Amino acid sequence: MTASSQVTVLVGAQWGDEGKGKWIDVLAADGDLVVRYQGGNNAGHTLYVAGKKVVLHQLPSGIFHSRQTSALAAGVVINPAQLVAEIAKVRDQDVHLTPERLWLSGRAHVITPWHIHVDEQRESRSKSAIGTTKRGIGPTYGDKAARSGLRVGDYVDTAARGRWIQRMKEVEPSFGPLLTTSAEAWAAFEAAADALKPFVCDAESRIRAAARAGKKVLLEGAQGALLDLDHGTYPFVTSSSTGAGGACQSIGLPPRQIDRVIGIAKGYVTRVGAGPFPTELHDQVGALIAKKGQEFGATTGRPRRVGWLDGVALRYVVQVNGLDAVVLNKMDILTGLSEVKMCVAYRHPVLGELTELPWSSDVLAACEPVYQTFPGWSTEIPKSGSMAQLPPEAKTFVAAAEAFCGAQITMVGTGPGRDDALYRD
Ligand code: GDP
Ligand code: IMO
Ligand code: MG
Repeated sequence: MTASSQVTVLVGAQWGDEGKGKWIDVLAADGDLVVRYQGGNNAGHTLYVAGKKVVLHQLPSGIFHSRQTSALAAGVVINPAQLVAEIAKVRDQDVHLTPERLWLSGRAHVITPWHIHVDEQRESRSKSAIGTTKRGIGPTYGDKAARSGLRVGDYVDTAARGRWIQRMKEVEPSFGPLLTTSAEAWAAFEAAADALKPFVCDAESRIRAAARAGKKVLLEGAQGALLDLDHGTYPFVTSSSTGAGGACQSIGLPPRQIDRVIGIAKGYVTRVGAGPFPTELHDQVGALIAKKGQEFGATTGRPRRVGWLDGVALRYVVQVNGLDAVVLNKMDILTGLSEVKMCVAYRHPVLGELTELPWSSDVLAACEPVYQTFPGWSTEIPKSGSMAQLPPEAKTFVAAAEAFCGAQITMVGTGPGRDDALYRD
């Protein structure tokens, strides 16, 4: 970490929904620029502004601070009509996003009604569906990798957009008919182009310039490190590089420019969609945490699966991302439980005890968790102040998680609001 620590990446350290939106909003208070670097409107980032709940899907979570500039970098995928709707929604909350305040990369790829259609079809036809958000994420990143995607810069250019549509009609037999059967969606898709055009720019060179000039830059991850395309629980992952390395690649930011990487984990774990989840709880305790934590997807409304903190997976994420610090969020939700647990190894029926996250989802799915059990606490955690004020049992749990995962826990979440946080002295 350099003395200035100007460029910070925030990554989700589990399977998403760790509280990235809230923490970006908190940390952006003294920042200059917040950049979303991957994902699309599969994300749902919740924050509270003046007591009012806001869920952002594509806009970076720093927009409620007036001195902030926001950017959507090359690695994101954009749903144009939804982005226009989101810009209008925050305008109602007095956030006026001008082209000076919102930079939209011409290099980012566009989610079209076609990509959403393909995502829906694959999910509904498959017997082993991933449980995607059906927002067209996989097919859009797929077309990007196949070099047949539509980039934002071409989308806002009527002629270039027409050429892309023509090419798609030639190569995909069901593309032409979809233009007719989903005419309304295509009309909304086309209509958004003019509204977004003023925002389109070379966002990446501006971001690099801001970093060189010593501005405070926050790089906002979406999803979570265990949903990373390469390093997550494949195939039950999203289609982008969610980790700190993904931030550099998405923006074209030299890795040496990153000063600090923060991971956000909950004191327990949630997961939406299918895939292995060794610490998942199917009992009353799980139901209690889900209810108290209001664990429903911010994008799809689906109930989130809930389980104990997975120390093995967290340590893996610390190592893959080089986390300098970890936020242990939503610790208030664990108050009142007679005991709390952390998984410290996996037990596989054939392979025996595993101390590392296996690369195979089949192996992980067959594992049972090995737990360390801690006494719970019933004293309410103070809303704000110092981590020294944690109840002794919570302090023990935090210290054990920290020692096990190998990164310092520097902040603890105590509620959904901006001030609901405890900091290490
Ligand atoms: P994200 O996708 O990582 O931004 O997380 P989500 O917004 O999808 O889900 C996190 C949920 O927890 C939201 O409803 C937040 O308002 C809420 N939240 C965030 N931090 C805390 C916390 O420390 N305590 C409690 N009780 N709720 C929190
Ligand atoms: P935020 O940023 C939690 C999950 C989906 C599914 C898998 C693939 O709010 O933390 P996709 O639609 O990306 O192809 O779905 O990834 N998923 C998320 N889970 N939080 C998210 O975003 C997610 N975005 C995608 O549930 O399992
Ligand atoms: Mg979310």
